[in-house]
Amino acid sequence: MDMQLPLDQVNRRAWTTRDALHEFTRGKKWTDAGEQAAFAWIARECHGQPLLDIGIGAGRTIPLMMEISSNYTGIDYTASLLDQARKSFPGLDLRHMDARDMAALPSDHYALTAFSWNGIDCVDYEDRERILEEMYRVTRPGGLVLFSTHNRGGPGFDERPRQLLPRFSINPLRFGWRVLRAARLLPFALYNYRRHLPLHRDYDGYSIRTAAAHMFGIVIVYTTLPEQRRQLNALGFDVDAVFGSCDGQLIAPEARTSDAWWLHFVARKPR
Ligand SMILES: C[S@@+](CC[C@H](N)C(=O)[O-])C[C@H]1O[C@@H](n2cnc3c(N)ncnc32)[C@H](O)[C@@H]1O
Repeated sequence: MDMQLPLDQVNRRAWTTRDALHEFTRGKKWTDAGEQAAFAWIARECHGQPLLDIGIGAGRTIPLMMEISSNYTGIDYTASLLDQARKSFPGLDLRHMDARDMAALPSDHYALTAFSWNGIDCVDYEDRERILEEMYRVTRPGGLVLFSTHNRGGPGFDERPRQLLPRFSINPLRFGWRVLRAARLLPFALYNYRRHLPLHRDYDGYSIRTAAAHMFGIVIVYTTLPEQRRQLNALGFDVDAVFGSCDGQLIAPEARTSDAWWLHFVARKPR
């Protein structure tokens, strides 16, 4: 497990912060309406079948997946988050593993291979391809992969620390609290943002930017609808459905843009 490319180094550090643990153990059920719609889409087809859950973090998705099938395997490469998941869900098959190398898992096996909450955006683009290739390998012919990814056309692209500046309120207590909060967060956010600037890049169908999460502590891939479709098709997948994060609506196959924060892709490995 020694795959320390630039984004990896930055993001792995972020997963071990208190902020990440707090965020991943907040008791949130769905990240957004699109995730709920995507799960509803795949649930019946995958009922009772083997499921693989990649990047489980502290285990938010475990109950969501177990509702579909108890034939469940979860993996994550962050030991501290995995420990938390093991404590909350003892007895399950939860493994310390990097999605770029899932050699320990069987080929052509899972009815569903999922990587939720934009986890796939946290590695460099070459590694994203590697992960999708691995997801393809372990999924059974006719099976599904499900993942979400940040939308370069959405409102979350190119977030800046100035968004932490306090909004004015006529209520002095509320405004004072906002000022204090900004004074606490802004120095960390600015420090991280400036440190990550050299990693920012723009390419034809995707960009690399710092995201506001974890005090501007992660640097991630933002992709576009056509580029994500292209990449999936090039790897041999058929795209079954795409859901937008804001309203959970299906995004038409011919759509070239969307104003969703992120996109949930359901793709199929052909038989
Ligand atoms: C945004 S968190 C989401 C956690 C969890 N899926 C949830 O929805 O609450 C992303 C997770 O992906 C994991 N992750 C990122 N890259 C990974 C990789 N290459 N292999 C395994 N896990 C990875 C991180 O450790 C982190 O736990």
